[in-house]
Amino acid sequence: MVSSEGIEKLIRSHLVTLGGYAASTSPDTLKGKVEVPEESIIKLDANENPYGCSPRVSQALATYPYLNIYPDDVQTELRKLLEGYTGIGAEHIVVGSGSNQLIDLIIRLFIGLGDEVINCVPTFDIYRFSTEICGGTLIVVPRDENFAVNVNAVKAAISKQSKLIFLANPNSPTGNITPQKDILDIVNTGLPVLVDEAYYEFSGETVAPLVSQYKNLMVLRTFSKWAGLAGLRIGYGIFPPKIADYLLKIKIPYNVNVAALVAVRESLKDIDYLLGRVKDIVAERERLFGELKKLQFLKPFPSQANFIFCSVLNGKASKLQQELQSKGILVRYFDKPLLQNGIRISVGKPEHTDALIKALKELGGEISG
Ligand SMILES: Cc1ncc(COP(=O)(O)O)c(C=O)c1O
Repeated sequence: MVSSEGIEKLIRSHLVTLGGYAASTSPDTLKGKVEVPEESIIKLDANENPYGCSPRVSQALATYPYLNIYPDDVQTELRKLLEGYTGIGAEHIVVGSGSNQLIDLIIRLFIGLGDEVINCVPTFDIYRFSTEICGGTLIVVPRDENFAVNVNAVKAAISKQSKLIFLANPNSPTGNITPQKDILDIVNTGLPVLVDEAYYEFSGETVAPLVSQYKNLMVLRTFSKWAGLAGLRIGYGIFPPKIADYLLKIKIPYNVNVAALVAVRESLKDIDYLLGRVKDIVAERERLFGELKKLQFLKPFPSQANFIFCSVLNGKASKLQQELQSKGILVRYFDKPLLQNGIRISVGKPEHTDALIKALKELGGEISG
């Protein structure tokens, strides 16, 4: 028997001091901490879809009869459905329980102790988190003041230990796009490059059709954002077939549940409805940007995703986040060396924008004071 104090001696040593991933707040954990009832909380902190999923998904799940049966481990129908949606052959496609699971799986495929991962920061923190869990070494390449990727610095960072390069496109939490020319410049280095297109439906920018031309280009997508299915955890990747085969080999069995299969099936039958909601969100993003620009104490950055990053010019982002939370409005704040004093606001419905802007106007003076 090992005493609980001694457990660190058995845990892999690099995990003892691992910095965890800060996930978003569940509204049900805020009871008593906010001024509004749980159902009135406006959740703009995790880039979820304020319109929810297609009604077809809820109807189909309510009557799905086979919850007692394991899903198809090799995802035959799912991959075929996604072939139909993407126009890219099923042999390129692997599905995950959220794209986070695929990020983790790809890192597990390529990265062992001491292998290097090139990360263009600030960016989505899961890349760091999963790399560190696998014992990989992060090589941090800072983006410029407008969060553009520094292609020359990425190339200069490549060493014999480099195994993987991450590019979120649009980037999270900043919302900007990396031009396709820059992505291909990096892909032409020959190292495996993962282009994370979690927000593709909002940006319209993709390199997915190019995957079949390269042995080292991988693209990730998700149903969490555009299809309103974050709670069901459905992501997929488009890979060179050889990499897809390895990922299918090393994934845990039945990694995508049957509810996810039903949800993809029904969402893809209701594509016009869902893409109509995406259009509404994109229009609202532009309105929100205009409203945020009018506030003296915030500097919003243009975004191609379903969120807007703002630098807080006057006052503390952490205080602003707390004050908004107590009014029942959830946003994310960031205060790291390469992402100082900023908040990220997910695009909600028009009434969410109105409530947020009203609260920001009320708080503006207070947080800067
Ligand atoms: C860039 C990026 N990639 C991946 C994800 C994770 O998505 P999923 O819900 O599919 O795991 C997110 C979620 O916020 C994201 O911002």
